Amino acid sequence: MARDGGLRLRLGVRGIVSEHVAIRRGAAADRPFVLELGQRTALDSVSALRTAAPQALARSYEQLVDVVFARSHVLAIAEDPLAGPVGFALMLDDLPDEVTGDDQGFVAYMAVEPHARRAGVGRRLLAAVEAVARERGLPYAALMVTEDNAAARELYASAGYVTERRLLCKRL
Ligand SMILES: CC(C)(COP(=O)(O)OP(=O)(O)OC[C@H]1O[C@@H](n2cnc3c(N)ncnc32)[C@H](O)[C@@H]1OP(=O)(O)O)[C@@H](O)C(=O)NCCC(=O)NCCS
Repeated sequence: MARDGGLRLRLGVRGIVSEHVAIRRGAAADRPFVLELGQRTALDSVSALRTAAPQALARSYEQLVDVVFARSHVLAIAEDPLAGPVGFALMLDDLPDEVTGDDQGFVAYMAVEPHARRAGVGRRLLAAVEAVARERGLPYAALMVTEDNAAARELYASAGYVTERRLLCKRL
């Protein structure tokens, strides 16, 4: 443990992460952060089957953010008092399950800054948007994850998510 300006810090696997990272509700003003971090990490969601042009990825992610911000959604932001925002989770709360029509919260995307990973921030962000979904009476939380994204798959499995359907793809 070290001390800096009265804040207790600890070394995470990849860098210094404050123990005082706070999770707060996000707002429209957080859109630039959500956009920038999401675009920077979007490659992690590209499966080994696909080749992705960075510009196409960035455009596609921006469209996702536009759609989600235009609809009813829940945004959680992880904020470090020294480093500022270090992660977010963005959930749609008006996207029913396509098969049953059940209400659900659908996690559109989440990401944590590389230097702040493996410190429990992602887990806390996910729990935060789930808590709001629960408050809103939504009986399920759902999301899609790329098979090759081991970190995200582990996070979701450890948070209790199980595979419900499979999205198949074949190279033609
Ligand atoms: C996925 C992501 C959000 C995880 O954030 P994080 O803050 O590092 O996650 P946490 O520290 O809360 O990890 C919680 C658990 O997830 C699993 N996990 C997280 N990262 C992992 C990794 N790189 N390898 C294996 N398991 C991992 C572990 O079970 C971990 O618990 P543990 O540290 O006690 O072993 C982060 O890696 C990220 O931003 N990735 C890029 C963007 C992305 O892929 N988003 C998901 C799109 S679906």
